[in-house]
Amino acid sequence: MTAMASFVLVTAIISGRWQTFVPTTFILAVLGLYLHNTLRGKFVVWAGLIGQLHLRGDERILDLGCGRGAVLLMAAQHLTTGRAVGVDLWRKFDQSGNSLEAARRNAIAEGVADRVGLHTADMTALPFEDSCFDVVVSNFAIHNIGGSAGREKAISEAVRVLRPGGRLMIADIRGTRRHAAQLARLGMSAVARRRLGWQPWWVVTATRPENRN
Ligand SMILES: C[S@@+](CC[C@H](N)C(=O)[O-])C[C@H]1O[C@@H](n2cnc3c(N)ncnc32)[C@H](O)[C@@H]1O
Repeated sequence: MTAMASFVLVTAIISGRWQTFVPTTFILAVLGLYLHNTLRGKFVVWAGLIGQLHLRGDERILDLGCGRGAVLLMAAQHLTTGRAVGVDLWRKFDQSGNSLEAARRNAIAEGVADRVGLHTADMTALPFEDSCFDVVVSNFAIHNIGGSAGREKAISEAVRVLRPGGRLMIADIRGTRRHAAQLARLGMSAVARRRLGWQPWWVVTATRPENRN
């Protein structure tokens, strides 16, 4: 993204034609939004979202597509006896510097390594038994799965591993309307979708009913 923006900007300057400044301005705006979200926005937003979960500290939390751990480690800060588990395929195309080692280093740096588990796993086929997490979260990750069937599988897997009464919180830039509809079809309760501030970014929340099999 940064390389493309630099290329377009240099091309616009060299050509000196005003027409080239229109796409350049657009690309720079998208880049600015991306950098804002990556470096600051998502931390501010998720500090609020995790606060809304009112964690006791003993929960088991799963982060789907945890990457280098932005949300996972923030959630782990709220735990005492609980555990925050992250799964990822560590795709460098989706996040720069993405690796299990980077996430582990960050967990140590944040002082939460004792409460964090990291697994190399596909969120469309989670290596966990049914109903074993109190909370499932995911940020900017499900849209990276190619194909709607894969994205639907990720949602059904999230529901499968949630215990009755467990809560789900998914933030993403697209596909959230479909996720909300699928969650309702799967029998989740309190399904809600809302926009996060002025940005093209939504959060879907839902609870697994206590009385479901
Ligand atoms: C844009 S990054 C977001 C990372 C992190 N959630 C954050 O907010 O910083 C998307 C992540 O989803 C992961 N990912 C994509 N497809 C996946 C899949 N099928 N299973 C597990 N992780 C996946 C990528 O490897 C990447 O780490």
